[in-house]
Amino acid sequence: MPSPNVNMPLPDRLPSPLISGLALTALAPMQDVTDLFFMNVIASYGSPDYFFTEYFRVHESSTPDKKILRSIIENATHRPIFAQLIGESIPDLVRIAQDLSRYPIAGIDLNMGCPAPRIYRKNVGGGLLRDLEKVDRILGELRSSVAGLLTVKMRIGFENTDNFDALLDLINRHHIDLLSLHGRTVKEMYHGAVHYNLIAHAVQRVNCPVLANGNVTSAHAAAAILAETGAAGVMIGRSAIRNPWIFQQIRQHLSDQPVIRVTLADVRDYIDRLSDTTTSLIVPRRAQVSYMKMYLNYIAQSVDAAGGFLREMRLAQTDTDLYRVCDRYLLSNPDQEFSLEPYPGLVARPSCEAVRELAVKPLVAQ
Ligand SMILES: Cc1cc2nc3c(=O)[nH]c(=O)nc-3n(C[C@H](O)[C@H](O)[C@H](O)COP(=O)(O)O)c2cc1C
Repeated sequence: MPSPNVNMPLPDRLPSPLISGLALTALAPMQDVTDLFFMNVIASYGSPDYFFTEYFRVHESSTPDKKILRSIIENATHRPIFAQLIGESIPDLVRIAQDLSRYPIAGIDLNMGCPAPRIYRKNVGGGLLRDLEKVDRILGELRSSVAGLLTVKMRIGFENTDNFDALLDLINRHHIDLLSLHGRTVKEMYHGAVHYNLIAHAVQRVNCPVLANGNVTSAHAAAAILAETGAAGVMIGRSAIRNPWIFQQIRQHLSDQPVIRVTLADVRDYIDRLSDTTTSLIVPRRAQVSYMKMYLNYIAQSVDAAGGFLREMRLAQTDTDLYRVCDRYLLSNPDQEFSLEPYPGLVARPSCEAVRELAVKPLVAQ
C-alpha cells in the first residue's frame, strides 16, 4: 500500500528549499566525510537545501550505526537530513527504515550507486542495478512500510545503460519522491565524463524531481548542468569538500548576485575548522593527520596550478609539518584568490569510498 499522501504533487512533499524558486542543492552522502562535524562546518559556510547521511549498513544483525545516528539526532544545520541505507535484505531494510523514521529525518534514501567492488559484489549499492526484480521488490516494500519520503540515489547502470529506462520506470512505479542521479555507470566509478545527456533523459522520464550529480565543480558548472539536464537541482560531493562556499555561491549565481570571492586566507581558516572537528574524533594523532590529508587532497586542487601544495602536504609526516605546509602555501599570499574550479590535472586521492582504510593505515607518504 502506498503511503497516504503519496498522491500529493510530488515537489510539495519535499521539504521547502532555502530560497523558493531556485534550483535545489544537496550535499552528497560521503562515507567517513559527511558526519555531524563536517555538516556543521559546511553549514557555517552556507548550507545546501538538503543533507544526506553516510550510508547505514543494513543486514540481518545490523542496528543503526551510532556515529551516523549522531548526524541526525544532533543535526544543528537547521536543514533537513535524509537517512541513507545500503543493503539488500528486504525485512532488514524495512526494519531499519522504520527504526530510523522515529528520528528527525526528512526521509529514507536508498543507495543504489556505491561502486566499491567489496560492496557491489554483495549485490548492494550499485550491485542492485543488475537485478531489476530485486529493486522492484525493495522499493515496493519500502514504499509501503515507510510513511514519509522515500528517495533513491543511483547511477545510470551497472556495466552499461541497458537497464536504465527500466530502472527509471521502477522509480515511477513506486512513487519515489526524489531521485539523485550520478551520471556514470558503476563500472565507470569516478572517472571519465559524466553523462549529463542521460540525466536529462531521466528528468524527462521520471515523475519526481531529479538532482544531477557528478562533477558539479562550481556555481558556474552547476548553472550549466542545470540548463543541460533540466534537473530540479544539483547534488555535490567532492567539490563541497574542496570549496564549502559552493552552495552559497550557487544561490548567488542563480539569483544574479555577485559570487562571494574566497581567498587563500579564508581557506586556511577552513582548514582550522576541519582540524577542530578531527581532533574531536577519538582517533590516534597519526590518523588525524591522515584524516586532514583526505580533506586537503580536495582543497589542494584549487590552491596552486602547479600542484606544489598537493605534493608537499602529501609528504608531511606530522601535524606540525602539515600545518607548516598549509601556512606556507596559504598565508604567503593570503589575499590571492582560491580558484573556483579545480586546476586541471590535479587529482585528489582517494577519490572514492576508501577513506576509512586510509584513516587507519599506518601513515606513509601518499
Ligand atoms: C569519499 C566518498 C565517499 C562516498 N560515500 C558515499 C555514500 O556513503 N553514499 C553514496 O550514495 N555515495 C557516496 N559517494 C558518492 C558521492 O555521493 C557522489 O555520488 C560522487 O562523489 C559523485 O559526486 P561528485 O562528483 O560531486 O563528488 C562517496 C563519494 C566519495 C568521494
